[in-house]
Amino acid sequence: MSDNAAELMALCKRRGFIYPSFEIYGGVAGMYDYGPLGCILKNNIVEAWRHIYKGREGFIEIDSETVNPRDVFKASGHLDNFSDLITYCTKCQAPFRADHMVKEFIDNPDVLSPKELEEAFVKYGVKCPECGGELGPVDEFNLMFKTYIGPGSARIGYMRPETAQGIFVNYTNLYRYNRERLPLGVLQTGRSYRNEIAPRQGMIRMREFNQMEVELFVDPEDKDWARFKDIENESLDLIPNTTLQLTTMTVKEAVEKGVIANRVLAYFVYTTKQLLTTLGIDPKRLRFREHEKDEMAHYAADCWDAEVLLSYGWTEIVGIADRGSWDLSRHAQFSGQDMTHFKKYDVPKEVEMDKVKAKNKALGPRFKGKAKDVAAAIESSKPEDVKDGKLVVIVDGESIELDGESFEVVHVKEKIAGDRVIPHVIEPSHGLDRIFYSVLEHAYDHDDKEDYTVLHLAPVVAPIKVGVFPLMEKDGLDDVAKQIYDDIHRSNAEAYYDGSGTIGKRYARMDEIGTPWCITVDYETVEDGPNRGTVTIRDRDSKEQKRIKIDDVKNIIDRLLSGSDFATI
Ligand code: GLY
Repeated sequence: MSDNAAELMALCKRRGFIYPSFEIYGGVAGMYDYGPLGCILKNNIVEAWRHIYKGREGFIEIDSETVNPRDVFKASGHLDNFSDLITYCTKCQAPFRADHMVKEFIDNPDVLSPKELEEAFVKYGVKCPECGGELGPVDEFNLMFKTYIGPGSARIGYMRPETAQGIFVNYTNLYRYNRERLPLGVLQTGRSYRNEIAPRQGMIRMREFNQMEVELFVDPEDKDWARFKDIENESLDLIPNTTLQLTTMTVKEAVEKGVIANRVLAYFVYTTKQLLTTLGIDPKRLRFREHEKDEMAHYAADCWDAEVLLSYGWTEIVGIADRGSWDLSRHAQFSGQDMTHFKKYDVPKEVEMDKVKAKNKALGPRFKGKAKDVAAAIESSKPEDVKDGKLVVIVDGESIELDGESFEVVHVKEKIAGDRVIPHVIEPSHGLDRIFYSVLEHAYDHDDKEDYTVLHLAPVVAPIKVGVFPLMEKDGLDDVAKQIYDDIHRSNAEAYYDGSGTIGKRYARMDEIGTPWCITVDYETVEDGPNRGTVTIRDRDSKEQKRIKIDDVKNIIDRLLSGSDFATI
């Protein structure tokens, strides 16, 4: 951890943003608890995300289970593909991520095979960083936490490694809720779990972490977005995988030059920039890097990472992926459910086709009461299901083999109203804890000479919006201050009453946690004179102070929170 990151984590612990989990028992790497201020800041980030995706885009939100049965991850591909490569020290048995052991010698080591990594250990003389022992063989290590659902070990479950799967497995419900229309945008925030081999980067690599994911189901032949026009001239800093060079261009240029594959993906790359900069991420320390082909997750057809510059280096905090039809096709295949969208033609089309038809007269005597169900099963079969003149159907769990006496394949002309397509998924997936940490690091400002810290948090995320102080906790100043605190806190914004220590110390305490404004009740507030009924309001960043009427406090705080400049109030 760099000095900056260590200082910030110390502040986070001291002031109640973040606590290392289970610290009284020695702690566990990669696990953190949110403290009182951290909870508010985290919730403020979630609300800003909802404001864009639910408010502006009109998407819907769900909250699904975190423990999922094995079938879900067999279908999603996580059981077979979601692993990192691990090596153990042959002497002290310490585990290491194998690719991390060679990253100072090789660019992009996460694309190397186990054998190539073992060869690299020998070539570069890489030894165990703990004890200097030899590193052992490299193996796959699946990152999912395994558990059991119910007593005994009959039903294996896994803690979800992404919230996304909870949305995919609910596709048919959500599609129906959306009255069978696309686009269908669904968001979910919650915990996900990855059993990281050796997490060493504070909040950047957590084993239990928070995501804010958006799964947008679109027509595969219509990857456009109505509001694209609103943002097409905005600029993006992009590193495409074709050139690996940083290039700045407008969103429109990025699509026209084929740098970003389609307008919907480009729109949500820019939306990510909008969200992150609203939260206080410095746009000069933000870029979008396209995954290289061999770096892409097993489900992704394309992916752009929002990377921010932190004391850890450039770090991914959001991934905007085009998951194509991977997830819905796989869940359709593994569950047998229909996960398509019915795409209506403008004008019905007449088509010729082969169809399987039931011979109802023959079915009645053979199947009696079941005949109707058998006929339905026959007619939902496809001609290619007929093998050597035989057709197998499943009715009430029973497999029934039929021959030409029960069905026929006929050639028909039919008018069809539309086609069934599997939607594609565009996924802006936000690492909430990483965003939280990045917002803090970009806001962190420590003056070494004065030994004074200010968190320049954007008001929208600041956990406390207003500090309220009586100059002295006596002579009625405290009563007035408490009344102002109550009024603000109850109505529009988190406020904090502080009556102890010098005013300078109280400002310092608020600056250190990023409180944008402080109000002080002094003797002029209560004594006869031109300033009776007024208080001072101080701006955190400019340190400027103004006198305002108590009656105007609420209105002024509202204006400041909606973005008015302190100079204009
Ligand atoms: N859903 C994408 C991810 O979790 O990385």
